[in-house]
Amino acid sequence: MIKRILHSSLLFLLLLENSVADSNNDIAIYWGQNDGEGTLTETCATGKYSYVILAFLNNFGNGTVPTINLASHCDPLTDGCKTLSTDIKNCQMQGIKVLLSIGGADGNYSLASSDDAKNVSDYLWNGFLGGKSSPSSRPLGDAVLDGIDFDIEISPPQHWEELARYLESHSTPARKVYLSAAPQCPFPDAELGIALSTEVFDYVWIQFYNNPGCEYEDGDVNNLLNSWNQWTKSVKNGKVLLGLPASREAASNGYVPVNVLVTDLPAITKSPNYGGVMLWTTYYDKQTGYSNYIRSFSCTQQNHTECRGNDEHKANKWWIWLMVGVGAAFAITCFILCLCCVSRRKDKSQVDGKLDKKISFTEPNGVNPNKTENIKLEERRSNEVKVFSFESNIAASNNFSSINKVGEGDFGPV
Ligand SMILES: *[C@@H]1O[C@H](CO)[C@@H](O)[C@H](O)[C@H]1NC(C)=O
Ligand SMILES: *[C@@H]1O[C@H](CO)[C@@H](O)[C@H](O)[C@H]1NC(C)=O
Ligand SMILES: *[C@@H]1O[C@H](CO)[C@@H](O)[C@H](O)[C@H]1NC(C)=O
Ligand SMILES: *[C@@H]1O[C@H](CO)[C@@H](O)[C@H](O)[C@H]1NC(C)=O
Repeated sequence: MIKRILHSSLLFLLLLENSVADSNNDIAIYWGQNDGEGTLTETCATGKYSYVILAFLNNFGNGTVPTINLASHCDPLTDGCKTLSTDIKNCQMQGIKVLLSIGGADGNYSLASSDDAKNVSDYLWNGFLGGKSSPSSRPLGDAVLDGIDFDIEISPPQHWEELARYLESHSTPARKVYLSAAPQCPFPDAELGIALSTEVFDYVWIQFYNNPGCEYEDGDVNNLLNSWNQWTKSVKNGKVLLGLPASREAASNGYVPVNVLVTDLPAITKSPNYGGVMLWTTYYDKQTGYSNYIRSFSCTQQNHTECRGNDEHKANKWWIWLMVGVGAAFAITCFILCLCCVSRRKDKSQVDGKLDKKISFTEPNGVNPNKTENIKLEERRSNEVKVFSFESNIAASNNFSSINKVGEGDFGPV
């Protein structure tokens, strides 16, 4: 009974916390192409990111044996990347979406035909998403990724729209297959333009770097802003994210210094489909802390409409926090009361009720004839409190695992 109350109140708290989180200033980050950027679990544990994009599957299609490349994080040729499964699940338990990026600036990939697109789609669905395949044919183990990111940079533009549609067809209400694309800022994108016109992408994070002409240059944000406006108008479904290098070293050009970001770019957050910022990469962000400035960058001008919107948004949620507080207090009180009953009964049977009579918390003037017993009782209470929080953690994680199984898809050993 007590456990059930605790389970449901914890669950309630977590659901509320998620619904209160601001979903319009998300940070997406690429992970996997740099040594020394830390593990995937560490990356997600920073709590800074909403989307982590594994980079890259860079060999596939047109008869090429599909191979992932995650730099020195793991060796796919010896099945060494299967251990990432645990990290991926750790990230997902925190509500972070983990996507696999296909493509990149270096590799052998292209789609030769509609058949080829279908084959690659099957490979992705069965090998990384919720499809059925033997565990041995899942390069990242049994974790089910949230979706696929298209970073197509060195391939003819044909058939990517077919691949996107095939993947999208696997989406169900129980488990969505998220699709994202990382076009270059020159509009329309040479490789992804056709695919993007399908409008099946949930997120479009545009690379405003290594692209002189539509990126930030020498104190001038106009090219970037013009390009941003063109992109945000063209994307009818899904959110658009500002893709930036997380340090000067992360790209040949296009790095936006933090002071420029904070003073000259908040205007972009006014776009109705603004979804946040994409950063290249975890490694550079770890060095510079660039992402720390993004959480607040839409509100750096306090009279900015977006900020007033946010404030109202937060203000409107005060009652949720009140309910959370009351709910938590109620659950804890119930629990402690019940524990007291239990321990009283125990004491009665063990000590013949002696303790009951000696319990006395508030003696006038702080004088307490039964001080020793009180201390003992309090010691026991504090132990009980520890037990309580330990149990509640277990309760929470049990609930987590059962929640995460819902809609996990039907992947399993065959
Ligand atoms: C592309 O394929 C060629 C020939 O098979 C190979 O030598 C090269 O290493 C591959 N490139 C990448 C990035 O895997
Ligand atoms: C597929 O590979 C063949 C031969 O290896 C090559 O001639 C052709 O250009 C490739 N097609 C694409 C779309 O990359
Ligand atoms: C697609 O996969 C099937 C079965 O694995 C294979 O027979 C066919 O040649 C593949 N088609 C292409 C275009 O790779
Ligand atoms: C915001 O306030 C500052 C000073 O408080 C003012 O200089 C600026 O013009 C205001 N901006 C807008 C868009 O109202």
